[in-house]
Amino acid sequence: MNSPWRFCYLTLTILLTLGLSPAYGLEEGQGPQAPSELRVEYLANPMGVDVQKPRFSWILGHTARGQAQSALEILVSTQAGVETGDMWASGKINSSDSTQVAYGGNPLSGGSTCYWKVRYWDKDGQASPYSQVARFDTGLFSRTDWKGKWVSGKNQVRTEFRLEKKIARARAYICGLGYYELRLNGRKVGRNVLDPGWTTYDKRILYVTYDVTEYLRPGANALAVTLGQGWYKSTVLLLQMNVELEGGEKLQVVTGPTWKTLDGPIVSDSIYNGETYDARLEYAGWDRPGYDDSRWSSVNEVSGPKGELSSQMMPPIRVVDTIVPLKMTSPAAGVYVFDMGQNFSGWAQLHVSGPRGAAVKLRFAEMLYDNGMINQENLRGARAEDTYILKGDGEEVWEPRFTYHGFRFVELTGFPGVPTVASIRGRVVHTAVEPVGSFACSKPVLNSLQRIIVWGQKTNLHSIPTDCCQRDERMGWMGDAQGTAEEAMYNFDMAAFYTNFLRDIRDVQDTAGTITDTVPYIWGSRPADPAWGTAYPLICWYMYQYYGDKRILAEHFDGVKKYVEFLRSKAENGLVKFSYYGDWVAVEKTPGNIVSSFYYYYDVKVLADMASVLGKEQDAKVYRALAETIKAAFHKEYFDPKTNSYANGTQTANALPLFLNLVPESVRGGVWGNLFDNIVYRNNSHLTTGIIGTKYIMELLTRTGTSDLAYDIATQTTYPSWGYMIENGATTLWELWQPRQGPSMNSHNHPMFGSVGSWLYKALAGINMAPGSVGFEKILVAPQTVRDLRYASGSVRTGRGVVTSSWSRDERSISLEAVIPVGSQAEVVLPKFNLKNIIIREGGQILWDSQGFHAGVQGIDTVKERGEGFLIKIGSGCYSFVLIGD
Ligand code: BGC
Repeated sequence: MNSPWRFCYLTLTILLTLGLSPAYGLEEGQGPQAPSELRVEYLANPMGVDVQKPRFSWILGHTARGQAQSALEILVSTQAGVETGDMWASGKINSSDSTQVAYGGNPLSGGSTCYWKVRYWDKDGQASPYSQVARFDTGLFSRTDWKGKWVSGKNQVRTEFRLEKKIARARAYICGLGYYELRLNGRKVGRNVLDPGWTTYDKRILYVTYDVTEYLRPGANALAVTLGQGWYKSTVLLLQMNVELEGGEKLQVVTGPTWKTLDGPIVSDSIYNGETYDARLEYAGWDRPGYDDSRWSSVNEVSGPKGELSSQMMPPIRVVDTIVPLKMTSPAAGVYVFDMGQNFSGWAQLHVSGPRGAAVKLRFAEMLYDNGMINQENLRGARAEDTYILKGDGEEVWEPRFTYHGFRFVELTGFPGVPTVASIRGRVVHTAVEPVGSFACSKPVLNSLQRIIVWGQKTNLHSIPTDCCQRDERMGWMGDAQGTAEEAMYNFDMAAFYTNFLRDIRDVQDTAGTITDTVPYIWGSRPADPAWGTAYPLICWYMYQYYGDKRILAEHFDGVKKYVEFLRSKAENGLVKFSYYGDWVAVEKTPGNIVSSFYYYYDVKVLADMASVLGKEQDAKVYRALAETIKAAFHKEYFDPKTNSYANGTQTANALPLFLNLVPESVRGGVWGNLFDNIVYRNNSHLTTGIIGTKYIMELLTRTGTSDLAYDIATQTTYPSWGYMIENGATTLWELWQPRQGPSMNSHNHPMFGSVGSWLYKALAGINMAPGSVGFEKILVAPQTVRDLRYASGSVRTGRGVVTSSWSRDERSISLEAVIPVGSQAEVVLPKFNLKNIIIREGGQILWDSQGFHAGVQGIDTVKERGEGFLIKIGSGCYSFVLIGD
């Protein structure tokens, strides 16, 4: 059971599940391995890079432990072979950075392709082989690079053009609002759907770059675009195709008045209400050359939205998965209900054959009534209904283009004949962020929790982090976004996604510094509830902490400062008190003012920290001093010495000040004791918190040495708890602790209570960043071996490589496997469990026994006894520790 092989097996399983290969051990050749997983601006071989100094990153591999990069060399070239660095030959740069390395070569020109490779020197000065060649494409840097005109018309637009020679290189730059589907010569270009991402269109519009070389051919070509309403609620198109023919001739195809337009088979489309598609209105061949479009009208030239054109530099929304229904029932004559077995965002693909003109209706819901019919009450104003009208020629396969639903159940009516489970496929649609994390442990309810968190999180990434994906909202509610950001970063590669979202936030900021509850701003208030607005500073700061992204801090420093200054202008006696939601959807309400004051302090502190990192010493000083005054005012205002509690003494009211150390030393024990009593004795180890208290309380309990209690809370299955949702059939997190089903606010796919996800990794798997470290450079592997938990295993692919911690234990021993990326260092904490005569081995070699530390095991610097456990300092590599005692 405790064999180290089990751990290696576990790690390998995790890595293989993630589709990753271990960084060492498998390659041939000893020493430093060729860098892998090359990224530019966080993306693999990105198109449309629109910054002048893009940042590079790569993962280091080495066959030895305790290794690091001491120097690097990058070559960037216009030639695919990258024989020389004709754009940038960095030369040998002494630096340990393998992430956030900024381009330092010749100015990049818009619309070009660069190829690059990198090698590194390890800490002993040995050079690695070069990496494989990666590439990036630049976008159109300035508005004047765009030669086309914004056009508008019906929902189908087309043009034809001739190319007289073979095509050497072709790029299409497209912005089609609300949504577009681009086709060339009968084929859909790329795999993006619901594209481009939703932005504040008057401020910033995203365009998408495609390599279309393979789609074109000598002779006649046709370009066709279908447009949808999306969030823009109208249709406009700007497109430019830059084509280079063999021999060097260049030409452009751009939107303009000669393009033709006509309404196609999409009769109506709406994100909330669904899509109606009349297949009888399909125009065969309209997306191919030679089609007679003489009856189509010409498009109109329009001024287009006002925002700046900005490249969509994040993973697109895609059909990420396809689900086969679990079962089909027929609760009434002609009504068929499909259970997909999972709540998710997307749509259904319909397989049908029948007479021309037959109309099949699909309706979507999260719940069923007792009689088996779908229950759409909680969708409120969203109709969530698609209709397909058959053309009547054999099997027809259809799925909508410009809507999406949040659902587990699909109702089919109007189906010609009797459907089978094969008539429907679930199409899982969301921003295709890369999964980077995995977590599993010996407690089944926590594995279910991890599963519903991940499903809830990913299906609420739709170019912005949404609150839910089913009812008439699906908005970037900022409180939800900030609360789940750390969880999301453990589970997915969120770097490019949040880079864009932070710009979205900046786009809504006004001259007074205010931002809004939802981003883009649709619902809620300006100014945002401080617990919602805090998403701006906090997500900036998480980007720095998790990815080491200093550029984000620089880019948003002024915006965050303006926001903090706005808050300050609202402060009364040194505290911000206005609040609309506060500790939202709590079982026991906490006054909103204490929540707002907490975030005022937090935001000021983060701003001071941002200033320090950026070397803005004056600002750092000013805001650090301001934070101190808020801290004092906070205690004065909210602390009640008679009860040793803050505000009304709820779990949240006491947890917030404890979390940020706002509680003076002299009363800390008392406040903490009150929190403990409230949880344990008044609530039988259940939370009564809303989304704000929930975010901090689990981590606080672990930090204060009571992980057992946090574990009790996390594994509850009675109300209110995550386990209660699971027991009641949740496949994604609910919006409320309560099991509501009516027409009120009760989404069944709301990620905001999923903040506990980061606690699973940090506490139970034990994967933490060491205090003060950024980007997982220094790691703290400190698993909480709580109660009846027998094993836990977590893995996160950080920007520097995979970090793994897998442990298991029995009465007399604990085994732990840790994987630390090259260039990182870690402290591993192994508990003693009150054992005597302890022996610690690593890979069979003795590290510690009655004589103390045995030096000489590669990669291991020291072992020290500390308090209840041992502290082992290690460098990079894969380690198997076993601690045994009597
Ligand atoms: C949303 C929430 C949001 C809240 C703010 C709700 O309607 O769905 O998740 O944070 O409003 O009050």
